[in-house]
Amino acid sequence: MATTEARPLVRIGVIGGGLMGREVANALARWFVLENFPVRAELTAVCDVQPKLLDWFRQVPTVRQLTTDYHELLRNPDVDVVYVAVPHQLHETVYLDVLQAGKDLLAEKPFGIDLGAAERIAAAVARSGRFVRVSSEFPFLPGAQRALAVARSRTLGRLIEVRAGYLHSSDLDPKKPANWKRQTAFCGEVGVLGDLGMHVVHIPLRLGWTPTSVYAQLQRIYTERPDGKGGMAPIDTWDNATLSTYFDYHDTRTPMRIELKRFGPGETNTWYFEVLGTDGGVRYSTKTPKTLWTFRREKEQIWDQTDLGFQMAFPVITGGIFEPGFPDILLQMWAAFVAERAGKLDGRFGCATVDEAVMSHRIWAAALASQSLNNAVEVKKRHG
Ligand SMILES: NC(=O)c1ccc[n+]([C@@H]2O[C@H](COP(=O)([O-])OP(=O)(O)OC[C@H]3O[C@@H](n4cnc5c(N)ncnc54)[C@H](O)[C@@H]3O)[C@@H](O)[C@H]2O)c1
Repeated sequence: MATTEARPLVRIGVIGGGLMGREVANALARWFVLENFPVRAELTAVCDVQPKLLDWFRQVPTVRQLTTDYHELLRNPDVDVVYVAVPHQLHETVYLDVLQAGKDLLAEKPFGIDLGAAERIAAAVARSGRFVRVSSEFPFLPGAQRALAVARSRTLGRLIEVRAGYLHSSDLDPKKPANWKRQTAFCGEVGVLGDLGMHVVHIPLRLGWTPTSVYAQLQRIYTERPDGKGGMAPIDTWDNATLSTYFDYHDTRTPMRIELKRFGPGETNTWYFEVLGTDGGVRYSTKTPKTLWTFRREKEQIWDQTDLGFQMAFPVITGGIFEPGFPDILLQMWAAFVAERAGKLDGRFGCATVDEAVMSHRIWAAALASQSLNNAVEVKKRHG
């Protein structure tokens, strides 16, 4: 068996040490729980413009560079891969600079503030030849993977419909202060679509279930919030989105409803995916994270409930009966990124691709157009 030292090491730099930058530090810090993983990974460098956030990373022993200037991090020869978690108006500039510096990239969604930015980034990725993927971790849950397997199987009969969504509720509190994610200048006009959408369309797009048309119902619910300085700040992004889409399944127009909501009463962080066919179906939601529901039509119609455990694509030391959570799926997503980069994904589910991220933006662009026309709008095709 190979010793630890015989395995290659990938050195990771993080730009943006806020919520997600620290979550990624958490995932990388316990890389050793992955069993027989062919590549080592460690966090070596961090950049944030806020020095007090950099201080937090001093407790991570592998970090050797802390800087407030991301160009310094990009000049560091001890960084192979850069993970970027900054507000959306900065995605394009920072991603292009990462590629220009000759580094590989795990980008955050929505992959640019709008479709134009996403297309320019994608063109730069193609020119660069670098390995680039986009963050979306929920499909790495065992329940999501099982649902994907059912969706791929030939047990569904005729496909009736697909429902997928991601629901939050923290915005119900009108006293919650404004932040950049609620302002078009920093989050993008797409608002909740760009914030939550990639997580929801990752599996459908991987299945080839790409919406061809969208009818969107978008809502702004609170238009101002406390600015933290005693006044109020305007909120101008879309808060809730319900998209009625069609995709082609074996030459049949098939409905898929996509729900993305910051105002979902009672939902702290609910990601769900449901596929219904005439003979079979599947339903999985993080609301009951251990439970997989599968449908079969026999003499009677039966929904079977299966209790899931810790069946991850990349095995870890955790016992098979235990419950996975957000930090676990983030580690799995990173394992998929590092494995695919090393040519060792071996048929497992991979991170969202650049094409999938651009396609997600095409769906959001169609949704914005649909909202303003109050009509269904065709989604621009991948090429053309
Ligand atoms: N994958 C997920 O589940 C998930 C969850 C939340 C957010 N996100 C995405 O991650 C990204 C960041 O979101 P967040 O919630 O971590 O935001 P955040 O506001 O918590 O963190 C962003 C950080 O970027 C820093 N920053 C701003 N400008 C910078 C610059 N020029 N150089 C270096 N650092 C800079 C800020 O100081 C801040 O600490 C966004 O793209 C968001 O959509 C993904």
